[in-house]
Amino acid sequence: MSIHTIIIGTGSHLPDSVVTNKDLEGRVNTTDEWIRSRTGIHQRYIANDHETNSYLATQSARKALDMAGVRPQDLDLIIVSTMTPDMPMPSVACLVQNELGAKKAGAFDLQATCSGFLYGLSVADKFIRDNRRMKILVIGSEVLSRRTNWEDRSTCVLFGDGAGAVVLTGTKEDRGILSSHLHADGSLGDLLTIRGLGTAHPELSEILEKGWQYIEMQGREVFKCAVKALESVAWEALEANGWTGDDVDLLISHQANIRILNLLGERLGLSKEKIFINIHKYGNTSAASIPIALDEANRKGILVSGLHILLVAFGGGFTWGSVAMRW
Ligand code: ACO
Repeated sequence: MSIHTIIIGTGSHLPDSVVTNKDLEGRVNTTDEWIRSRTGIHQRYIANDHETNSYLATQSARKALDMAGVRPQDLDLIIVSTMTPDMPMPSVACLVQNELGAKKAGAFDLQATCSGFLYGLSVADKFIRDNRRMKILVIGSEVLSRRTNWEDRSTCVLFGDGAGAVVLTGTKEDRGILSSHLHADGSLGDLLTIRGLGTAHPELSEILEKGWQYIEMQGREVFKCAVKALESVAWEALEANGWTGDDVDLLISHQANIRILNLLGERLGLSKEKIFINIHKYGNTSAASIPIALDEANRKGILVSGLHILLVAFGGGFTWGSVAMRW
């Protein structure tokens, strides 16, 4: 009998402060109407100084562990998907491990931008299929506001901060993760990048002068690539599971732009009720967007037993991927 990976707890945590589109009208040359109609975003949560990535991640983890009824000391592994860690070393995963007191757990960060949470789920799934008793915490956590140029209207209206977490274990029952598919195309990396603050450009003065500490995005090009990649990875998942669009009960996509979500739904032939949307509240929270959405859907009671859920994501790198599951 095959082993499946199941989610036994979800949690999420958002910063205290909300920044509305109206607030941004006072900062850059934009309007609430432009942001809503071009992106679907109404507001986003922005971290205060004390709300570090590891703080948000730990808070979301506590809620997921609480729901799962799992003690931190019983965790075997912690994976944090992020591109905005507190610092290069130690990893966010190690900071979370320490905060939780998860002494037995291995811990590492995983960087696959907005697809990071699905990459993390896929890695955890491989561990659990080897040992169904393992308990793994996968977190998506980002503080993108600190890598955002608040004078660049083409990016600053898009992003938000937050964290989401799931606790995973194995079962012999016929439910849980059914498939995962991961993809990347590094040749298009320049379309969406943060050039500085790695080791390629060690001179801080050069980085600050050129603004390389901030996200740069060729929005229109990224949009086209995102729609194409998300559609293709969704069909790939459907085919792998012998599903048609009708078999998908709920599509939870990375929340980057409501127009991308609507186009994807149309191309897969999904009715509007099957497409989970919360971008209006949070903006694009990168690796955190899917676990935040999962937690929200779970706590609203939307994730009923037997539900076919398709998760898809696309982000810088480029990276994209899918996870199909039966709840
Ligand atoms: N307010 C008002 N006008 C604006 C704003 C703004 N905030 N931002 C841009 N504009 C203007 C532009 O200057 C441009 O003006 P022009 O025609 O006079 O030159 C006009 O609006 C249209 O700009 P576009 O960039 O073509 O607008 P578009 O409709 O493509 O929307 C957006 C931009 C929202 C960024 C969209 O392209 C998008 O969502 N792209 C994909 C994002 C994505 O999926 N990212 C991947 C994941 S994120 C990650 O990995 C971190």
